[in-house]
Amino acid sequence: MRWLLVLLLSISATNGLEYIFKPGPLIPATKGEVWPKPQREDKLDDGYFSVLPSFFRFALSKNSSTCATLTEALDRYRHLIVFNNRRVQKIYFKVRSCHEADANFLGYLTSLEVELTGKCDDEEFPSFEMNEEYTLNVTSATQKLTSSTVWGILRGLETFSQLIYLTDDYSCHRVETTQIHDYPRFAHRGLLLDTSRHYHTKESILQLLDAMSYNKMNVFHWHITDDYSFPYVSINFPELSQKGAFHPTLMVYDQKFVKEVQEYARKRGIRVLVEFDTPGHTLSWGLAKPDLLTKCVNVPRLELGPIDPTKNSSYEFVFKLFDEIKEVFRDKYTHLGGDEVDFACWESNPEVNQFMVDRDIADYSALQSYYIQKLIDYVSSIGLKSIVWEEVFTHNATLPETTVVNVWKSDDPQSVLDQVTKAGHPAIISSYWYLDILQTGGDWLKFYNADPWDFPGTDQQKALVLGAEACMWSEVVDSNNLESRVWPRASAAAERFWSAQAPKQPALLEEVWPVASRLQEQTCRMNRRGINAQPPTGPSVCF
Ligand SMILES: *[C@@H]1O[C@H](CO)[C@@H](O)[C@H](O)[C@H]1NC(C)=O
Ligand SMILES: *[C@@H]1O[C@H](CO)[C@@H](O)[C@H](O)[C@H]1NC(C)=O
Ligand SMILES: *[C@@H]1O[C@H](CO)[C@@H](O)[C@H](O)[C@H]1NC(C)=O
Ligand SMILES: *[C@@H]1O[C@H](CO)[C@@H](O)[C@H](O)[C@H]1NC(C)=O
Repeated sequence: MRWLLVLLLSISATNGLEYIFKPGPLIPATKGEVWPKPQREDKLDDGYFSVLPSFFRFALSKNSSTCATLTEALDRYRHLIVFNNRRVQKIYFKVRSCHEADANFLGYLTSLEVELTGKCDDEEFPSFEMNEEYTLNVTSATQKLTSSTVWGILRGLETFSQLIYLTDDYSCHRVETTQIHDYPRFAHRGLLLDTSRHYHTKESILQLLDAMSYNKMNVFHWHITDDYSFPYVSINFPELSQKGAFHPTLMVYDQKFVKEVQEYARKRGIRVLVEFDTPGHTLSWGLAKPDLLTKCVNVPRLELGPIDPTKNSSYEFVFKLFDEIKEVFRDKYTHLGGDEVDFACWESNPEVNQFMVDRDIADYSALQSYYIQKLIDYVSSIGLKSIVWEEVFTHNATLPETTVVNVWKSDDPQSVLDQVTKAGHPAIISSYWYLDILQTGGDWLKFYNADPWDFPGTDQQKALVLGAEACMWSEVVDSNNLESRVWPRASAAAERFWSAQAPKQPALLEEVWPVASRLQEQTCRMNRRGINAQPPTGPSVCF
């Protein structure tokens, strides 16, 4: 890459990056750089191919397995390569024919060979254990993408589509000779969306999945209900959304859509991890089921509290709901929540206190643990694996070692992560990637510089970190501003989750520029594909 290191007058901008004064785009986009950065990428020489988008095809190897998931992906990526590039070229520039002549020109790349060496099964959903490794060679000798799984092929197709760039005179699309061997650093690379505090339209959820696949994120953590609304249309308890959604028919996710989301995600190698958060964050459940919640006695502004952990009927209800969740959602993991339980209501209720005396439950943390332990035992008995927010662990619930702890608080995530993994639990870390917290719009560097392994643990402890998530809490976000709030700030997280561990980027302009320019290209690429990602860093231009 060529860098114009112009060290003119500089000032420190509020996003931590230094601006310089010079006309023109501050952050030039790179050309054909892959985001997130592959584990291993070698440019062999200065050779390049030209791609005539309209004539480009994928060619399945004779030996390759095939299935609908694969062929649909080839169609999707061909469409992105052909129509997107051609459309952009047509909008901005008069279409000129591409004439390449110099010595580095290796010819026109009319097809990429694709070989899936393992089996391909359209019934198979992506899982925590899926293998996403692939190799991609575009050299004078071979032009081929290989993987043993369809998930690896999906990641490789994304990479290939990103290698194609438009030349400076806008006349040709090129791919430089490249050898890539790539696989993720973490198996769990999530994006949480809260669909309770605001309703997000079905279209915007599907589009979010598209954008996730452009950034190789593979877990859609669907925080589907909370205090404010219950948009999930339950089979067993339809009254929950009839009374608890913002609107009983317009602002709900019915069974058909829940199925559609999972199928759409599956085709992109994305898992759907659903979270029905209990026993707190359930006020909207009480609109249909008031008896489920604890009655608060003389608590200002609060009539009902968390799920009442003293009643058998509470467990009967919650267990029946999880029976349904197990049938409806295909992933082996479910997120049980368990965060931010407000104890004021339990404290105020004499029956709750009597229940605790009768059972020797020492304090409200222990009461919360009593509830969540029963729930974990139940979901495990029906074959689901549990993920819980960190309080369940820090409040000393007795957890099976396999329970995954989701660290999220920002006060001291390193020490919590250390304790969780010392206790032998797998962990997921979200603390550093709260997309709802805005400094300036361009505050991606803090997301880029945080690392899931930033804690003083042994290698064995670090191996228990399954991955990380960026979180989009929706207090002030709905479908109108979702995309620009998430992208490309979550792209910074996505590279941290996929790519090899890298040194922190200093806020010095000439050193952060290579990353900023790559992120600029990724942003422009998402824009071309119809994602309203906001400009990441500063004055710039996208074509
Ligand atoms: C196809 O597979 C066979 C058996 O594994 C192998 O001998 C052959 O070279 C392969 N052909 C191609 C074109 O890769
Ligand atoms: C790509 O090239 C490397 C190095 O020559 C080779 O080991 C690998 O098998 C090739 N992969 C494909 C898919 O051609
Ligand atoms: C609740 O369930 C427990 C254990 O199954 C049982 O001993 C108890 O009598 C039940 N209480 C009520 C009020 O049904
Ligand atoms: C959990 O146990 C630790 C260590 O015994 C103790 O310091 C802490 O106060 C306990 N937390 C709660 C909420 O009971």
